[in-house]
Amino acid sequence: MKITWLGHSAFLFEGGGRKVVVDPFMTGNPAFPKGLTGLLSEGLDYLLLTHLHSDHVGDAVTLSKRASKVVAIFEICKWLESKGISNYDPMNIGGTIELDDMIVHMVPAYHSSGFIENGSIVYGGNPCGYVVEFGGHRIYHAGDTGLFLDMQLIHRLYGPDICLLPIGDRFTMGPRSASIACNEFLDAQTIIPMHFDTFPALTGKAEEFKKLVKRGNVIVLEPGGSVEL
Ligand code: NI
Ligand code: MN
Repeated sequence: MKITWLGHSAFLFEGGGRKVVVDPFMTGNPAFPKGLTGLLSEGLDYLLLTHLHSDHVGDAVTLSKRASKVVAIFEICKWLESKGISNYDPMNIGGTIELDDMIVHMVPAYHSSGFIENGSIVYGGNPCGYVVEFGGHRIYHAGDTGLFLDMQLIHRLYGPDICLLPIGDRFTMGPRSASIACNEFLDAQTIIPMHFDTFPALTGKAEEFKKLVKRGNVIVLEPGGSVEL
């Protein structure tokens, strides 16, 4: 199974002939690798969305049209419907769905979810993260979140071996809180930091995070970089 970081919180998982994209933010993402713009016009199997902020759903409408299924919380599915998308698969926190050979668990995130569109606020329901059982791994994409004690439950229920965690601070966990998630709650084998360095306002640095993590192997990818696990 191959994980490619598309910059910010956008990831591509590939395995068993399937392609999964989480939080597509390509257009307007300063960290999105230019060489990968072809992804916007290619087909994919599943698109997963964590919350309704433009740095996570930026290209969601475009990619939804190319995906066989879009997974999101109910309110985001309704927002997609207002854009003419019908291939969505709604779920909510605590739930599990099976999509062919992939199992998706929706888990909590401490954040917000909504944005202004045509002068009105669009409510995105609760923000979430996912644990995806795919390609022989259990991958936790935390979405945007602060640190929360119930990450212990995510470990107990789903035991993710790969964790993708935001470390940029200001809008999410910073290096110190994300390191507590790794050292005390999640006990993952592989940790990939995300949501840092995209904009100057995100001050959390990967080097500091890596120094603080004592449990698990931190892999710092470059945008466009991949790892086979
Ligand atoms: Ni956000
Ligand atoms: Mn964000």
